[in-house]
Amino acid sequence: MIRTIPKAERWRGSLSVPGDKSVSHRALMMAALAEGKTTVTRLSPGKDVASTAHCLRGLGVAIDVQGDTAVVHGRGACGFSPPVETLDAGNSGTTIRLLSGILAAQPFASTITGDASIRKRPMKRIVEPLKAMGARIESSPGFLAPLSIRGTRLRPIDYVMPVPSAQVKSCILLAALFAEGLTSLTESALSRDHTERLFEHLGIRFRRHGLRIEIEGPQSPAPGDIDVPGDLSSAAFPIIAAALIPDSELILRNVGVNPTRTGIIDVLRTMGCSITESSPRSANGEPRADLIVRTSDLRGAEISGDMIPKIIDEIPILAIAATRAEGRTEVRDARELRVKETDRIAAIAANLNAMGVRVDVFDDGFAVEGPQKLRGAVIDSMDDHRIAMAFAVAGLVADGETRILKTECVDISYPGFFDMLEEVEHA
Ligand code: S3P
Repeated sequence: MIRTIPKAERWRGSLSVPGDKSVSHRALMMAALAEGKTTVTRLSPGKDVASTAHCLRGLGVAIDVQGDTAVVHGRGACGFSPPVETLDAGNSGTTIRLLSGILAAQPFASTITGDASIRKRPMKRIVEPLKAMGARIESSPGFLAPLSIRGTRLRPIDYVMPVPSAQVKSCILLAALFAEGLTSLTESALSRDHTERLFEHLGIRFRRHGLRIEIEGPQSPAPGDIDVPGDLSSAAFPIIAAALIPDSELILRNVGVNPTRTGIIDVLRTMGCSITESSPRSANGEPRADLIVRTSDLRGAEISGDMIPKIIDEIPILAIAATRAEGRTEVRDARELRVKETDRIAAIAANLNAMGVRVDVFDDGFAVEGPQKLRGAVIDSMDDHRIAMAFAVAGLVADGETRILKTECVDISYPGFFDMLEEVEHA
């Protein structure tokens, strides 16, 4: 579907964003592993989380979803049934990578795959450590999905992760729940820690020493209700829209502000953006707050190193902010962007070029010298939800009209994104 985005005038009002995608996946998986009933509130309505629910149902777990509340009837860590069909993770890297850690330890065989994008994304990063734990996994050539997993007894490992990835960390931590003995895991930089926070909430014991986590198996989570905070990665789009559209002030209610995710707030503040947090609170170990953002004059920033895992999903929308900021914005050490839902460095550069913006492209990032004018253009989302939403925001501040192609993909994380744009515009 094609969406036309006219230039926006002034954004005032308040809104709530959908539940956090990363927390929602983990909530469903851990509730499935717990024995008994868990209620998950404000579950992400996105298609990625629906893929996780679909796979868990394929393993015999009953999940009733009504609106944004899910009731999961957990079967216990050893209660899954062999799936009769291939498990379909759709577009969701988190689903396939985290579930593989659980499937590797089941007393049955299963196959998990996903859409064309998932079948191109690297799985070596989970296959290697899982094999070191004794897992029996066959992949397509080049360590790609589909993954055929013959479940077995896993053994613990001491693993140093070559890429900072919360998906890899979480896959190993879930597998470690089934391995008898002490698994140790060392990250190269701190990635989102939602798995660890839910472990704590659900009574799983582990120790953290800096970037090292130690966990003794076997253990299984206890049931415990989970309330999902609003997704900061989704909030980043209206936050940056409000910062760039003249004379705006927007309140975003109940947004997750877990410090392993707030890189976008930290970087925007360094760039001169006015964002304030109010009514801080916490539930199931996940902090949240209301955010108030106002139109701001931005300056460029350098983003690299340990900051990258904390901002990885927000880099497409940050690129739009960079076009309006005074001076150079440079993103480095972000090679991971090349293996997301699409090659996001290429997608950012091609679409910014289409809008008349000059971009320097590197293997591990890009740089934009600002401010540069954005010209309305035809944008190819490349079926990547974050590219579609980032360039919709670009359209709001561009001269002339912007047309975004292939917009259905926003349903992956933010169904109703385009309705939200219209509602705020006419508030
Ligand atoms: C996620 C981790 C990140 C992120 C993805 C969600 C998660 O991926 O980009 O959108 O829920 O663990 P990596 O772990 O591959 O960096």
